Amino acid sequence: MEESNPLIIAIDGPAASGKSTVARGVAQRLGLVFVSSGAMYRAFTWWVLENGVDPSDRSAVLDLLNRTEFVCGKDGREGTIDIGGKRMTDAELSATAVNGSVSRIASIPEVRERLVAEQRRYGADSGVVMEGRDIGSVVFPDTPNKFYIDAAPEVRAARRRAQGIIDSVSERDRMDSSRSTSPLLIPEGAVLVDSSHLTAEEVVSRVIDMIVQE
Ligand code: DC
Repeated sequence: MEESNPLIIAIDGPAASGKSTVARGVAQRLGLVFVSSGAMYRAFTWWVLENGVDPSDRSAVLDLLNRTEFVCGKDGREGTIDIGGKRMTDAELSATAVNGSVSRIASIPEVRERLVAEQRRYGADSGVVMEGRDIGSVVFPDTPNKFYIDAAPEVRAARRRAQGIIDSVSERDRMDSSRSTSPLLIPEGAVLVDSSHLTAEEVVSRVIDMIVQE
């Protein structure tokens, strides 16, 4: 019997569109590893701030990047990243200071190059559900399983407020969509799902119903 390729599911979308909850749910239902690429950009942003580096000082950020070791792995079925020997907590990753600087850090091509190389490694040997902004367009452009999860701006802002997180979602979206390297866009061939009036479970089921195994 012919061996099938590992299942790679790319889920992109703007901030607070629900893509993380959906990606985690799809991974759980299918027994695949879940990776939040945003958490990787957040972890490095936290490290920049922790080291007293100004996020707008590009050469200082690059200097730190070149001196920093990244170790990516898995904890159960969830991707992990340790930076400089430290694994950041969820509270650190969603800190207001990180929310305010992550788009700037993620717009630096050298930072993306380093993290994209780590992200591709997850897809090399086993299946993965990965969510972010450029997963279907840049990280795994060859997968037939690309989804773009969207929601109305007011729904997304309300979701962040309900989480008690201070996050200027529209400002991050503006920066993430307008940057020159790997901007947020609907990847070619992606299925668009509007989650505004759907539960997370309904979105998970829609995604699973459309998955193809090559
Ligand atoms: O998904 P998130 O909100 O946790 O992502 C945080 C930031 O990281 C987002 O504002 C832009 C950046 N990001 C990116 O540039 N590319 C990705 N694939 C994922 C996130």
